[in-house]
Amino acid sequence: MGKKNQLAASPKAKATVSSEEAWEEEKPKTVVVPPVVSLPKGKRPPELLRGFRDILPEEQPSWQVLRNAVREMAEAYGFERIDLPILEHEELFVRTVGKQTDIIEKEMYAFEDQGGERVVLRPEMTASAARAYVNHGMLNLPQPVKLYYVGPNFRYERPQAGRYRQHYQIGFEVFGSGESVMDAQLMVMVFHLLKSVGVETVMRVNSIGTPAARQTYRTELASYYRSHRSVLCEDCKRRLLKNPLRMLDCKAETCQPLKEEAPQMLDWLDEDSKTHFMQVLEFLDEASVSYTLDPYLVRGLDYYNRTVFEVWSAGDQGERSQSSLGGGGRYDGLVELLGGREGTPGCGVALGMERVILAMREVQAPLPVRKIDAFFAQLGDAARRQGLRLFEECRQSGLVVREAFGKSALKAQLELAAKQEAPYALILGQKEVMDGTIIIRDMESGAQEIVNAGRVVSILKKKLETRSIGTGKAVSHTAA
Ligand code: HAM
Repeated sequence: MGKKNQLAASPKAKATVSSEEAWEEEKPKTVVVPPVVSLPKGKRPPELLRGFRDILPEEQPSWQVLRNAVREMAEAYGFERIDLPILEHEELFVRTVGKQTDIIEKEMYAFEDQGGERVVLRPEMTASAARAYVNHGMLNLPQPVKLYYVGPNFRYERPQAGRYRQHYQIGFEVFGSGESVMDAQLMVMVFHLLKSVGVETVMRVNSIGTPAARQTYRTELASYYRSHRSVLCEDCKRRLLKNPLRMLDCKAETCQPLKEEAPQMLDWLDEDSKTHFMQVLEFLDEASVSYTLDPYLVRGLDYYNRTVFEVWSAGDQGERSQSSLGGGGRYDGLVELLGGREGTPGCGVALGMERVILAMREVQAPLPVRKIDAFFAQLGDAARRQGLRLFEECRQSGLVVREAFGKSALKAQLELAAKQEAPYALILGQKEVMDGTIIIRDMESGAQEIVNAGRVVSILKKKLETRSIGTGKAVSHTAA
């Protein structure tokens, strides 16, 4: 295992020109690339690792919208939050995700820690959630146990648009119920979650049955592809020996005609899995969730059985981004595989946050604008001292006030107030401090009013209230 995970030696480390270009496009627009080349090596600023990115303040509103929507949806559907460690035993993922998968073979950030333990930066969180379910005896809780999580994962993949070496996932896991309604409800929930942030989706659904049925199907599939070995792409020749199911995921043009004629998993399902799947589809119909059947969907993780699905942007089913917004399925053997009670069923889904945010950006989903109520400008030390207190008073009363305590010139402060679109400036100079007053300046008209400093909060609130009635816009505070 260790050798395979020597990342520096990974053949995937080289990216094609087109994926590099796509990756460049992903960089936030305000990033100014410093002229590092002319600097001596020791003085160059450290660069980000490829495939890693900073999430800048300007991007945070969409992340916040998504996080809020997740929390609301999780509460509505009865999921409880769990936070899982980023570092886990390597063995956890090898056992569950599967030795022959891309994640384990090529993508894990695995290393030996100072104590000689083989550890990995988690590539996904379902295995960790199942481990936590077993470790904490959650099978003794009323079932099903419904958990959700939000956090980063690490996969040494080839970076491109929407694919990173560190990506964030939102995940929902249901332990302890084998009912088909659970599979459907997960899809209903993510359908509505994404709709609530402006993204319309379609589910791609398939069933891969029981491990035994899948084994028979795998043999059938391998024998079909073996008879066409000469026309297979190089990757598929390798997959044929190791993991024939992955051949159905192949994107190479030469392999497409073969895929269309390949035996389909649905024809090899056992009766129980067939019934289970039909029920899932009926529930989806009932809930009016858009889906398409995808007989070739197998997913890249070994723990799945029965229902598997992916979440795609409506109108983008593979043509544009070739990347799903999310994926999930049933994993009835996972808990047992980790030493939990035999036959504990489970199912779940995870969404890639960066991809959802890209989709939100594409549809120009509306973002909340945090309007400020006033800008506090001061002149002189005494005003600054009093300003600290006044600022606190405003904040506690619910007013959104910006300031520039670090600046001295009034002109510069008022320019900043205008830039931040403050409707009012509160101006405090030496004279006002002595008089116990403060100036309220209407930034639009330039009209100024001197008021009693003790009443500034209530007067400002009144002004904002009157203004909002005039413009028909809501204010961000309650009136005094
Ligand atoms: P997954 O399909 O490997 O499934 O990942 C889920 C989602 O995470 C993907 O659909 C994608 O949106 C996002 N994602 C994955 N890799 C990357 C990447 N390199 N860059 C950006 N986004 C990425 C799982 O991880 C399963 N644990 C899902 C699950 C939960 N199954 C049951 N419960």
